[in-house]
Amino acid sequence: MANALIILAAGQGTRMNSDTPKVLHPVGRAPLVAHALAAGRALEPERIVVVTGHGAQAVEVAVAEWAPQAECVLQSEQLGTGHAVAQALPRLDGFTGRVIVLYGDTPFIQSETLERLVQSTADITVLGFEAADPGRYGRLVTQGDTLEKIVEFKDASVAERAITLCNSGVIACDGPLLGELVDGLSNENASGEYYLTDIVAAARARDLDAQVVTCPEAETLGINTRAELARAEALFQQRQRAHAIEDGVTLTDPASVYFALDTYLGRDVSVGPNVVFGTGVTVESHAVIEAFCHLEGCHISQGATVGPFARLRPGAELAENVHVGNFVEVKNTTLAEGVKVGHLTYLGDADIGAHTNIGAGTITCNYDGVFKHRTTIGENAFIGSDTMLVAPVCVGAHALTATGSVITEDVPATDMAVARARQVNKPGLAAKLFAKLREEKARRAAKKG
Ligand code: UD1
Ligand code: CA
Repeated sequence: MANALIILAAGQGTRMNSDTPKVLHPVGRAPLVAHALAAGRALEPERIVVVTGHGAQAVEVAVAEWAPQAECVLQSEQLGTGHAVAQALPRLDGFTGRVIVLYGDTPFIQSETLERLVQSTADITVLGFEAADPGRYGRLVTQGDTLEKIVEFKDASVAERAITLCNSGVIACDGPLLGELVDGLSNENASGEYYLTDIVAAARARDLDAQVVTCPEAETLGINTRAELARAEALFQQRQRAHAIEDGVTLTDPASVYFALDTYLGRDVSVGPNVVFGTGVTVESHAVIEAFCHLEGCHISQGATVGPFARLRPGAELAENVHVGNFVEVKNTTLAEGVKVGHLTYLGDADIGAHTNIGAGTITCNYDGVFKHRTTIGENAFIGSDTMLVAPVCVGAHALTATGSVITEDVPATDMAVARARQVNKPGLAAKLFAKLREEKARRAAKKG
């Protein structure tokens, strides 16, 4: 059956004590709302509607980045979860499939859990969990296999508060029925809010079927405070490390490797200690990332070796068997197969041909203070140590630049370029110079004494 997602993300998150809307706080380098979108993607939703409110503009930008197919709808006043869903439903007009409501601040719901939820054929299915400390969660009141109602903590009786089966907030219901039930909601309750949770009792009053699907409490962890955000980050990292290891990645010291939500590591990739993955990194199988590397927005092909102490920035594209060594920074640059750039180098806005060797201390001078310019180097070239490549500039295939050259003009293929002052040796001059300096030092000491 076709699925659609509604993601509630209008809340301010007052307890975060922040100017940033809650759902934009990051876990694994991605805003919380991106985690909800990622979990929901497994349902292959036909439509995704994100309900925004606090910081709507910024939330829209993040949603466009992480789920371009999603649309946003503004809930200008936060009158409750039921009201939020009511704002989204017009965008699903004509959609007759299953609608799944998720929260934008609950990053750990697993795709498999959502798949189990949509397999339920009940009219309404609610994702519940056994809470170690049920606190202020809504309580699921069941009768046999049937969910009779959800009672919010504030409105619950003492007996209802004793229930430990709680509402995660995730609800699945057919679109048209959800519309009817949400239309019927009132806000006559302890909070004066339109509770989405009231749709269960309303459905039961019409003798419709409501069921609970459960999941581990850890999946339902919502983020309300900075402390919870920090705990969520730790939990996220633990999970990603475990997944990477399961997927056939070697992590020498898992606890020191940090992942982003979208990090992809192929089979038999090996990652040393203290490696940080920013967003947008893909590493193909059998590549090796040595210790202390920082990678972001880059692609590393099979058999490449990176680091130790390398920094790959957005647009770094490493073909097969490339080697990037220590203290090398690469940005917006393609390195074709077998390129070697071993030491102390900056390559920015460049294209380097296959099997070219970049000597230690090479710098592409890509920025003139106003514009960025490209450097192009052909295949099998040899860039001598400490070459400054003043872009825009091209070095042809099989060409060579002499050590210490400042290359400001194109170098034709197979040529050698020397662009530095010629060396002159002055016989005995060093010794004479030092003798003079020592005499001066002695004269000053005598004067003082
Ligand atoms: C809600 C549930 C409760 C459940 C708990 C799980 C209701 C009435 N209660 O309570 O049963 O146990 O979540 O965490 O649904 N939001 C909007 N617009 C609004 C109100 C909320 O977008 O007008 C969003 C919030 O940003 C948040 C989510 O909906 O992401 C949940 O809202 P929140 O106020 O945190 O609900 P709880 O009181 O925690
Ligand atoms: Ca909450």
